[in-house]
Amino acid sequence: MNIKTFATQQELDNHAAQIFANLLQSKPNAVLGLATGSTPIGLYNALVQLYKNNEVSFKQAYTFNLDEYIGITPDNPQSYSYFMHEQLFNHIDLPAEHIHLLDGTASDAKEECQRFEEKLTEKPLDIQLLGLGHNGHIAFNEPAEALSAKTHIVKLDEKTLQANARFFASIDEVPKHAMTMGIASIMKAKHILMLVRGADKAAIVKQALQGPITTQVPASLLQLHANVTVLLDEEAGRMLD
Ligand code: F6R
Repeated sequence: MNIKTFATQQELDNHAAQIFANLLQSKPNAVLGLATGSTPIGLYNALVQLYKNNEVSFKQAYTFNLDEYIGITPDNPQSYSYFMHEQLFNHIDLPAEHIHLLDGTASDAKEECQRFEEKLTEKPLDIQLLGLGHNGHIAFNEPAEALSAKTHIVKLDEKTLQANARFFASIDEVPKHAMTMGIASIMKAKHILMLVRGADKAAIVKQALQGPITTQVPASLLQLHANVTVLLDEEAGRMLD
């Protein structure tokens, strides 16, 4: 694991953006796995800036997003589809037909997960961006005795509902179910790039990166991947050896 710590958010975001830019320069049709949440917003801003400066193009690239809530429409501001368009897709030259998002309104969510997984098999991920949940989740793979390999439906953990309630009027409005890439869908990516910020994540960063490998901390499984880069701010990294 390649772990790097940054003094400022700007440096962390720029470094992450440069990793994407370098990949797109060497492989313009790269397949990019993307994430939502607060953590990647600065990175997406930095990528939009690189695009505006003509330093990077997404014209031939493909994207897949990790997850989506079940039961909310893509035009709902709380949907991950809406988030991705607002933060990134609306501001770059990525063709709409190159975007792969899970459809939270699909009439058959199980079938939707299968469709998505098949697309992922056709277009293997060159890089997968991840954030880290306070409970150690990656995408919506929540701590459990057993984890699922492929894209699947999940019931969200109480801790995740509480963490995500900040984006909704009340916790009751947070959807209870989501679709998410599975552990194997993520681990098949050639490169995994995890970004983590803030003192509130320091303990879980320590467990995920240096603790035992356990399905109770899904991110600890990343220790088994040969090409993982973790970018941290000083607060998030303060408990590491
Ligand atoms: C988002 C996702 C989640 C987040 C995680 C951290 O697509 O899959 O696993 O990466 O919950 O969220 P933030 O960045 O908001 O702390």
